[in-house]
Parts: sequence; C-alpha cells; structure tokens
Amino acid sequence: MNEKPQRVTVKTLQSMKRKGQRITMLTAYDYPTAQMLDEAKVDCILVGDSLGMVVQGKTTTIPVTLDEMIYHGEMVARATVRAMVVVDLPFPVGQLSITHTVESAASIMKRTQCQAVKMEGGHQQAAAIRALVDAGIPTIAHIGLRPQSVHALGGYRVQRDADQLMTDAKAAEQSGAFCVLMECVPPDLAKLVTEQLSIPTIGIGAGPHCDGQVLVTNDLLGWNNGDVPKFVRRYADLRSESARAVNQYCEDVQKGTFPSADESFG
Ligand code: KIV
Repeated sequence: MNEKPQRVTVKTLQSMKRKGQRITMLTAYDYPTAQMLDEAKVDCILVGDSLGMVVQGKTTTIPVTLDEMIYHGEMVARATVRAMVVVDLPFPVGQLSITHTVESAASIMKRTQCQAVKMEGGHQQAAAIRALVDAGIPTIAHIGLRPQSVHALGGYRVQRDADQLMTDAKAAEQSGAFCVLMECVPPDLAKLVTEQLSIPTIGIGAGPHCDGQVLVTNDLLGWNNGDVPKFVRRYADLRSESARAVNQYCEDVQKGTFPSADESFG
C-alpha cells in the first residue's frame, strides 16, 4: 500500500537551508494544477495574488479580494498531500490594523486549510508579522519588489536599495517570519541577505544564491501570450500545443470526422 507522503513543514524548510538543499516553490490557483505540482514533489505551492493578473486578466494584483484568495486557496489545499500550501494576504490586508490582518489570515487558514500565509512587507509590517506568528500562523515576508505597492514603487522595477532590503529582511526574521521571499533584487544583494539570515530565502528574479526559487507556473509552462519578465525560464510551450489541439478538434468537427464510431455509443 502507498503510504501518504509527509507534508513539507516549516521545520522541513529550515532543515533544507541548513543542509544546503534548494527549496522549490511554484504557484497554483486551481485543483488540477495543484495536484500536478504536488505529484511532481514541488516543496511549496503558492496561491499567489498574481491570480489577479494570471487568471483574471487584470493589470495588477491590487483588485484581488480576500474571498477570491480563499476560493482559490481552498481548491489548491484540497488537491495536495505533500506540498506546503502558502496563501497570499491580498491588498490591503497587512497594511490596515493588526487585528484586521490577524482576522483575515486566520480566516484564510480556517477556510482553505493551507499551512502558511505570505504577506508583502518587512520593517513597516514587523508588528503585523509578529502578531500573525503569535497567533500560530506561519508567515512568509515578501520583500524587494512588492507588487501590491507597484504604484508607490513607480512600476515593476528591480529594487537596488541594499539598506532597505537588509532592514526588511532582518525585521521579518526578528518578527518571527519563517521565510523571506525576495522579488526582483540584484543577485549579490540576495546573496548577502541569504548569508545573513538563519531563515530560508526564496527568490524570484533574485539570482541563483537564494535558498530556493519560485516562479509563476503559467509562465514556466508557456501558458500565456509570451509576454514574460526577464527572469522567467519557459520549460514548455503549452499555449501553442493547446492551440494546435483545439484547431485540430475544430477541423475534425467541421469535416465530420469527430466523433468516430469508436467514440460513439453502439
Ligand atoms: O503572487 C505571486 O504569485 C507571488 C510570486 C510572484 C512570488 O507573490
């Protein structure tokens, strides 16, 4: 009989950092994708608020609501047995009162059954991170480029302020975050932060020296219009392959060759 795999936990990730084993994280927003990633033994599955752009076709992550995060988070968590499932706190949760932040994160944990949450921010959100951790909610701090602050940051730009990055990273660690996710920072800065922290770092557009890497799954699989950031490596071109299949189906229906006798009931 196949034994149920052990779930990846905060302790697993800490031990991976100590042993120099790289952590893998990818995004999912639905049941079949999450099931596929879990079977592929991806360590962490992120239900990112990138769903606003990737699934809903919006131009930023800002409009995504708490209910939408819970809707997608529940499907993803239900599909997994091994991966740690992390759900994003949407804008402006984390920027309002600490009570509101804890209540929102608790609602995500209760209704999705995920294992952790991720919140954008570092130094300025230190008290909120501490409150989440005190409430027993494992928390990842997302620093560097924070997409929910895209307008304040003047666009999706590389974040080069070393002091700010280190201050945010240290504040996150001291507040009890179990991991720091760094987006769009130069590799040497990401390396420095990774060396200075005892908790794992996961990078996106942050070079090769982080303890782990994350990408948006739809970008990696080529399931989009090809417009992807510089840091994405496309491992497949599923959009072209799917378009080919759909064109073939339309042609077969139009020619009357689908369905065949084998595909019909006798
Ligand atoms: O929302 C998201 O998918 C993210 C990743 C880009 C890290 O935060």
